[in-house]
Amino acid sequence: MKAIGFARHLPIDHEQAFEAYELPVPEPGPSDLRVAVEAVSINPVDTKVRAPRHPEPDHSDNRADPAPRVLGFDACGVVDAVGSAVTRFRPGDAVFYAGDIGRPGSNAEFQLVDEAIVGCAPQGVDPSAAAALPLTALTAWETLFDRLGLSPDGEDAGTPVLLINGAGGVGSMAIQLARVAGLKVIATASRAESRQWCLDLGADEVVDHFGDLPAQLAARHLDSIPAIACFNDLDRHYPAMAKLVAPQGRLASIVGNKTPLPFQELRDKSVGFFWEYMFTRPRFDTPDKGRQGEILDTVAGMLEDGRIRTTRHEVLGRINVDNLRAAHRLLEGEHVIGKLTLAGFDGQ
Ligand SMILES: NC(=O)c1ccc[n+]([C@@H]2O[C@H](COP(=O)([O-])OP(=O)(O)OC[C@H]3O[C@@H](n4cnc5c(N)ncnc54)[C@H](OP(=O)(O)O)[C@@H]3O)[C@@H](O)[C@H]2O)c1
Repeated sequence: MKAIGFARHLPIDHEQAFEAYELPVPEPGPSDLRVAVEAVSINPVDTKVRAPRHPEPDHSDNRADPAPRVLGFDACGVVDAVGSAVTRFRPGDAVFYAGDIGRPGSNAEFQLVDEAIVGCAPQGVDPSAAAALPLTALTAWETLFDRLGLSPDGEDAGTPVLLINGAGGVGSMAIQLARVAGLKVIATASRAESRQWCLDLGADEVVDHFGDLPAQLAARHLDSIPAIACFNDLDRHYPAMAKLVAPQGRLASIVGNKTPLPFQELRDKSVGFFWEYMFTRPRFDTPDKGRQGEILDTVAGMLEDGRIRTTRHEVLGRINVDNLRAAHRLLEGEHVIGKLTLAGFDGQ
């Protein structure tokens, strides 16, 4: 099968940052689906795994080509074969999923994925519009409802939630899921285009993440917020999060910190801090990893009945080396709105 990967961690403008490979078609394990990939989306995690490493791994032992690393953690496709223990899917089913960061990714004609973390693709939706969703939908859902403890069913209607980085992939899903849950959605964006994108997705308020967040929120009488999620630059935003969070509130972050965070500031307010990592369930094979399949089925239903819309912002073309390179270059610029997708495999 055709696949796009890399053998060395190189800057995106290096001609070997991505290369086309011919690899064996993988055989499904007992709980695996083998999926013929139709469309993928690209996430910042792809750029982080690909990024230059120092020192480079030493290949001076003249081994034959090291196995290429195939990235891609968002796909929509059709089940081509199933493992012996698979119960939920059959060949021919249309599916979408983020997958497992420890396994080969979706930038290949065929990919193996555990059925527990797969959802039925939304019906009547273009594969590239569906491929935009899984990783960010799972991250947004787990952040809002599993970590911040908010209700997806309207029981917290009217509760303010602050989403820092509203226009990126995760924020674009979180705004919509929070709106459907009836929450009062305050998102952040720094440019006219990203601000408008947040409003179009249903944010009630948009403030600038490069400005003084507490001052902007105080001006809107929103200075004590029960739930705050950080989807970018935790080091920069943590002081504002600690100041704005309500007593007994919750903070969550999907991005790590580079410098120590003064957690003692949270103690007097009995505030909880939660990490969200979308790959935790597949990576640790948690007993509840099947929740990811259920969440994706729920999200597909929301898309089908129009409660949410795709966050696909741009289809960059077919799945090939040049278009993957273009997507990584854009994501490394850190001002992408929504999601970038590729559809149809040409593998060149
Ligand atoms: N833990 C997990 O499971 C998980 C899952 C998904 C993503 N992530 C991580 O979360 C981050 C966001 O990913 P993503 O796919 O949602 O979005 P993304 O596509 O990287 O986000 C792009 C957006 O970031 C905004 N932005 C740029 N600098 C910012 C800053 N200093 N503070 C706040 N916002 C800023 C930009 O908005 P403006 O142009 O308006 O400034 C832009 O629209 C990445 O680091 C990614 O690796 C983690």
